[in-house]
Amino acid sequence: MTLFPRKLEEWYKTFTKEERNWLIIALIIALIMSTTTLTWHALDREHQVPVETMEVAPDVFMEKAMRFSMEYAGKVIPEGVDIYLAGVQFRWIPKELKLKKGVTYKIWISSGDVLHGFSLLGYDGTVYNVMVMPGMAYAVNVKFDKTGVYEIRCNEYCGLGHQYMIGKIVVVE
Ligand code: CUA
Repeated sequence: MTLFPRKLEEWYKTFTKEERNWLIIALIIALIMSTTTLTWHALDREHQVPVETMEVAPDVFMEKAMRFSMEYAGKVIPEGVDIYLAGVQFRWIPKELKLKKGVTYKIWISSGDVLHGFSLLGYDGTVYNVMVMPGMAYAVNVKFDKTGVYEIRCNEYCGLGHQYMIGKIVVVE
């Protein structure tokens, strides 16, 4: 292969009509997308998660989540109590949270090992998505207006048992 040096003028040729049109189309698309994103951010305050973040050592958070899990196993979590939820290969600790309808809870989420994802799925469109990195804890505020069972699914591939990483939120009266 032989390389020929090019003169500067050859690199900076003026646009052809097609090139110019594509540039204009790309610019319009970029403008529409950024406007939509900013408008969405300003208008949709409900899905601005997480509300708070902090750095935390994975083992410290794991201990907090385990202690929380033991304390509230099978019990309805009272109003005003912060919830600690840890993702580890391949489960959520605690695996089930019992919450009261109409009460806003703060859930701290973190990982004890690798990258996980927190997806809260509800049948009335309640969906929260938070990337769960080890070393960081994320707080989300959740409030359920309907009783029922909601699923927490891991949405980041975290290993061979990733698909079994399903938690539960049971909302009661
Ligand atoms: Cu945890 Cu996928």
